[in-house]
Amino acid sequence: MDLLIRNGTIVTEKEMFRADLGVKDGKIVAIAEDLSGVPCDHVVDATGKLVLPGAIDAHTHLAFPFGGTVSSDDFFAGTRAAACGGTTTVFDYSGQAKGETLLETAKRREAEANEDGPAVDYALHVGITDLSNGLLDTMQEAVDYGISSFKVYMVYDFGVKDGDFYQVLQKSKETGALICVHAENKEVLSTLTDQLVAEGKLSAWYHYVSRPEFVAGEADRRAIAWARSLNAPLYIVHMSDKEGVEAVTQAKDEGLEIYMETCPHYLHFTRDVFKREDGRNFVCSPPMKGQESQDALWEAVKRGDVDTIATDHCPFMQSEKDWGKDDFRKIPNGCAGVENMYPYMLSKANEGVISFPRAVEICSFNPAKIFGCTQKGSLAVGKDADIVIYDPNKDFTVHQENMHSDSDHTIWEGLELHGYPVQTYSRGRLVYDNGEFVGERGWGKLIKRAARK
Ligand code: URP
Ligand code: ZN
Ligand code: ZN
Repeated sequence: MDLLIRNGTIVTEKEMFRADLGVKDGKIVAIAEDLSGVPCDHVVDATGKLVLPGAIDAHTHLAFPFGGTVSSDDFFAGTRAAACGGTTTVFDYSGQAKGETLLETAKRREAEANEDGPAVDYALHVGITDLSNGLLDTMQEAVDYGISSFKVYMVYDFGVKDGDFYQVLQKSKETGALICVHAENKEVLSTLTDQLVAEGKLSAWYHYVSRPEFVAGEADRRAIAWARSLNAPLYIVHMSDKEGVEAVTQAKDEGLEIYMETCPHYLHFTRDVFKREDGRNFVCSPPMKGQESQDALWEAVKRGDVDTIATDHCPFMQSEKDWGKDDFRKIPNGCAGVENMYPYMLSKANEGVISFPRAVEICSFNPAKIFGCTQKGSLAVGKDADIVIYDPNKDFTVHQENMHSDSDHTIWEGLELHGYPVQTYSRGRLVYDNGEFVGERGWGKLIKRAARK
């Protein structure tokens, strides 16, 4: 064996048990009570530590052209930060350029990613923006290439109309793809924005006021209605509002295959952050909502209706966030988070808010299963050795200086965590060691994924 992790507590999506874990050629090859007799090049003592699967962040935007600029983490910086927070696979939302086939988008982004040199593995969802000239018919060839999920935005200038969204869902049923959706009501938020601007209400708080709870809730219900009418599976990204949570819970109770993702920033912050002096730094869409929505999200995490946690990692530099100091419309939407997701959710497990297996289920096992990453998402013989060693007694305070993104600020500044990852392995290679990135540019590979049956 190449690596033996001894005496740790293994955490899977179902259970926790004390065992040794052996790795060879990047794969988990043994999990047993005592592997001390097996010859091994490198032994790590994990006494008192938890041994977990690396997290899978199914929602990031790396080098994403958006808001008049490009998000500040490329595929190297974003995956370096991921590795240092225990995330061993990231999904990028790659936007289709006008006239591009869906496979061309994927291959263009694959080339860009490989040029940046990702530090951990990555996968691509393609954001569909152009259905003209039969481009939607190219979904099958993208699926055959291993890109089995696509996204539609109901907002932004590159978003699609309901009829196009409906056609995308129809096509997904033919091809075995899963459609992800950013659900907010574009018309209403733009009307509210115009009214606020006319009244001179331009501070960051009005970003929230222009897209309050019902703007997301209505679109969540509409998106589910289209999926229901076709009996098509649907994955709602970055759920932020109570009405949307209720709509998904109701759809699940009906037996529909509707998945719900939420993000740590909706679980931790409320709309009050937009009243802060640095409120612009928190501007993302959808915005954080009121306490009732946050409570509904936590309840859904606990009862199993939230399927995945992801970050929507989309950082911008402080100087870019400052463009909107006096006008919320000029603030590029998005925040850094890829390094904070697993530590945050695991610290909630450490506090007893959820169990460690539940944290593993929503941060690793479910995203792997939902998006067809068959080699990832669990500690089991035959799976990729994407492993995190977590010290439940290590205290850690988030500061910009101890983060590994290229961004120059973090909305998580000052967050005190009890418990923190101490090592991260990507396919058996150590990439993070006690505060230091020790991986290499270009180690990460594109993960091609299975379509749905
Ligand atoms: O504010 C955000 N979320 N920026 C990234 C784009 C998106 O909507 O996911
Ligand atoms: Zn979005
Ligand atoms: Zn996003």
